[in-house]
Amino acid sequence: MRIAIGSDHAGFKLKGIIKQRFNAPDREFTDFGLNTPQPADYPDIAAAVGEAVARGDYDQGILVCGTGIGMAIAANKVPGIRAALCHDVFTAKAAREHNDANILTLGERVLQPEVACDIVDAWLQACFAGGRHARRLGKIRELEKRYSC
Ligand code: RB5
Repeated sequence: MRIAIGSDHAGFKLKGIIKQRFNAPDREFTDFGLNTPQPADYPDIAAAVGEAVARGDYDQGILVCGTGIGMAIAANKVPGIRAALCHDVFTAKAAREHNDANILTLGERVLQPEVACDIVDAWLQACFAGGRHARRLGKIRELEKRYSC
């Protein structure tokens, strides 16, 4: 699995923990930055990761900022991206199974590292369930088309 991962200054510590914890032979992380406490603008990182995932260069994306909110808002502006802000295992699993979410966003200032890792674990293990959920994703794609210039 190829995973694009990124953070701003408020998320780079948790991002580092995730990369280390989930390092595996069959999993490749590409880090789109940032890796310093220098203040940076989360939309820049969200755009880079979102565009790479939307192009199909990566199977999944993970974005970390202070709350996860800004990353989710920004990544969801990229056509084809379904970014989900998750605070627990239940929503992480549902985001993959029901919404086929392709980017997980997390808040370093909100989550204990152990909880964040449980969320990532659930996310990586879950698969899209298809069926009625596929029909609903089709409607989301229609919305994207309706509102694109
Ligand atoms: C940075 O201070 C913070 O605003 C950012 O990391 C994120 O939480 C925005 O949603």
